[in-house]
Amino acid sequence: MAFQKIVVLNGPNLNLLGRREPGVYGAKTLADIEAELRARAGDRVELVFRQSNIEGDLVTFVQEAGLEGAGVILNAGAYTHTSIAIADAIRGAKAVAIEVHLSNVHAREEFRHHSYLAPACKGVIAGFGDQSYHLALEALLAL
Ligand code: DQA
Repeated sequence: MAFQKIVVLNGPNLNLLGRREPGVYGAKTLADIEAELRARAGDRVELVFRQSNIEGDLVTFVQEAGLEGAGVILNAGAYTHTSIAIADAIRGAKAVAIEVHLSNVHAREEFRHHSYLAPACKGVIAGFGDQSYHLALEALLAL
């Protein structure tokens, strides 16, 4: 399963990275993370970045990625803990997705411990700050 394309999907409030609770989520903006991930990927794989604060957009993005056979790096933000619709999209489009989080959700509030998405994902990477995205990229490329 060599991916020619990997879609990096970010959900609600991740557009505020850099100014949003930097003690929890770090000082880098989403644009910083995108630039560094592109540098790491080099010419190994095509990367596409999409962000939305709207659950239905994420459903559509997951469907599109899955149906075209792209790998998915998915930080669904708070929808991780609430969205049956995104989980159904992963399964429905047979998307190979890795759930990522900047923070270690298991070391935080109880309501962040449950993920509707994880059972539909290939794996989960959480707690490594922006490096979570890099680890997910390497994991998808190594599949
Ligand atoms: C997050 C963790 C979620 O619980 C939270 O709602 C976010 C960000 C993370 O990357 O650590 O928005 O997905």
